[in-house]
Amino acid sequence: MESLLELLEGIVRQGTLVSGTLSQRRRKEPDSYTKVLIKPIQLRQEIYIQFEYHYANKVAHENVLASEAGARMATLFEDTFRQGLIRTTSEEYQVLLSKKNKVSVLKKQTAAAKVNLTHNRKKQYVLEEGEPVPFLIELGIMNTDGKVLAKKYDKFRQINRFLEMIQDVLPNLPKDRTVTIVDFGCGKSYLTFALYHYLAVQQGMTLNVVGLDLKKDVIEHCQQLASRLDYNQLRFLVGDIADYNELKQVDMVVTLHACDTATDAALEKAVRWGASVILSVPCCQHELFKQVSNPALSPLLSHGILKERFSALATDAARAKLLEILGYRTQLLEFIDMEHTPKNILIRAVKGNVPGSVQDLITEYEQYRDFLHISPYLERACSDLLEPFRS
Ligand SMILES: C[S@@+](CC[C@H](N)C(=O)[O-])C[C@H]1O[C@@H](n2cnc3c(N)ncnc32)[C@H](O)[C@@H]1O
Repeated sequence: MESLLELLEGIVRQGTLVSGTLSQRRRKEPDSYTKVLIKPIQLRQEIYIQFEYHYANKVAHENVLASEAGARMATLFEDTFRQGLIRTTSEEYQVLLSKKNKVSVLKKQTAAAKVNLTHNRKKQYVLEEGEPVPFLIELGIMNTDGKVLAKKYDKFRQINRFLEMIQDVLPNLPKDRTVTIVDFGCGKSYLTFALYHYLAVQQGMTLNVVGLDLKKDVIEHCQQLASRLDYNQLRFLVGDIADYNELKQVDMVVTLHACDTATDAALEKAVRWGASVILSVPCCQHELFKQVSNPALSPLLSHGILKERFSALATDAARAKLLEILGYRTQLLEFIDMEHTPKNILIRAVKGNVPGSVQDLITEYEQYRDFLHISPYLERACSDLLEPFRS
């Protein structure tokens, strides 16, 4: 084992590792990984070795410092795998371990190969092209070989961007119980299926996910798809966001491109549930367009197109400030590049300590509101929750 460790450390140290596969588990364990793929990657100017653990229904990645990667591979051989194939720039090493851990290594010269770090400089997606994912195949985004259809590339990117946002809020979701998530205005539910795939299939979480929308035919279609995919912790319901009263407790509310004040209805629900996480991409913010006025802003508001854009931004600013007052650390993030859709602001709100005093926040909000002469839906809907904070 000593010489295997030296060999592996040497390969990594020389920077000649191209790829590796560790397979043939000694003991079958139902919930454990069955294979590990290895490759070098570059992250922020540093070379790491990426270990890709393949489970029955998910894949997990771990990036290990190059200086520690040889030892990690050797441990995986010693404890778990009986076979490995390590490719370098000029050789191939077939590693075999007996039941008693006697190591034999067959070395073969190969045609020159390059260490491919370029692959890793490209954007690392949560869902990678080339890995067939059942829901993406069903939705016509990739084919059965995992190739993304040219016309669906923007959608694929959007799904991945959304999953990055979900990845970021994972630490804010409970780990020891079922996580309840509602997607308000789910529509065709590309992102609902993506969220389910990532959390239930890739992360192995126990979920209760509801997708709600006004459109009966769309909901029926989504429910059929969920059944075909065996996504049995995902339900679709027909209904209006404002009337949805089925659940008592919800951990995360998602509302993506729900029209105009439907977004506010969703935010109000989320706040009343005390949801830990809210992800919202507003759309068609018409409400304030009819309200906003201030002579000092007339150079801006006298142009319809500017007034429309300003009203949309003013709406989201009001929403963000109200969420802060109501106890959410709130950020506005770019959801997807402008070239793909103008509906590109995502409100990410996480329940927790908001810096500053709530009195200051409400003063700031009220000055802003009064300056624009607006009365946003979310403030009106949450007036009872806001009342205790008003002086
Ligand atoms: C633009 S689509 C977005 C669909 C999906 N969330 C997405 O981002 O791809 C907006 C959806 O919100 C739904 N919707 C609008 N107002 C709603 C309401 N009050 N209650 C439930 N759904 C609503 C519409 O029926 C529509 O399917």
